[in-house]
Amino acid sequence: MDEFYTLLKQYNSDNSNEALPEWTKIYSESTPPVYWTVLKNILNNYSRNNSVFEIGAGAGDILALILNLGFQNVVGIEKDLFLTGIANKKLEHFFKRKATVVHGKYPMSISKPNILIQVNCVYFENIYSKEDYLIQLKSFYQNASPDYFLLEVIDSSFIAESKAFPNFVRLSEKNIQDTFTGKTIDSFKTYEYPINTSSKRLYLIS
Ligand SMILES: C[S@@+](CC[C@H](N)C(=O)[O-])C[C@H]1O[C@@H](n2cnc3c(N)ncnc32)[C@H](O)[C@@H]1O
Repeated sequence: MDEFYTLLKQYNSDNSNEALPEWTKIYSESTPPVYWTVLKNILNNYSRNNSVFEIGAGAGDILALILNLGFQNVVGIEKDLFLTGIANKKLEHFFKRKATVVHGKYPMSISKPNILIQVNCVYFENIYSKEDYLIQLKSFYQNASPDYFLLEVIDSSFIAESKAFPNFVRLSEKNIQDTFTGKTIDSFKTYEYPINTSSKRLYLIS
């Protein structure tokens, strides 16, 4: 078991709060979610000089992983003000750094990061079709113009009814290839229904 995850899990349990969304509890479980480990294995291949930007930082658990791996130039954005505070408090506790997470809604103008991360963050406000959802994903990527985009999406193999994940956010490898034409694309299974609440895949686009 990851030594840092044990500390993070303990911090999250000690600071549990009824106002926190249900999904934050995955970081109080005895083992980390699969996408945490997949992300860690991918990031371990990269120089720690690379800058990292996370879209939808939530309670800061992914940024905590990234900082613990030794990346220094790290920023996240979170649209929920309460979670932004929770995340910054957590990152200050572990890494003695302030204001790692900016409160705001992506996309916004940012300096080009080497690595752009969007995991466990399915965002589709005012979007009702797969075509528009893919256009948004591409625009998120183009807004940052990163060297590497680590993007986790709901996989098209997930066919159960779900209000949280309408059909148009369920993507196949072909959808990703057609959206990011000319890029090198690897992918890793992260969640699998019914063991998890959906099936997800994390794409490495470079
Ligand atoms: C399910 S949480 C996951 C957080 C984190 N990525 C993790 O894996 O622990 C997704 C977060 O993304 C935030 N979010 C969604 N769309 C966003 C956007 N366009 N800009 C900023 N934050 C966003 C939500 O408020 C939510 O806190």
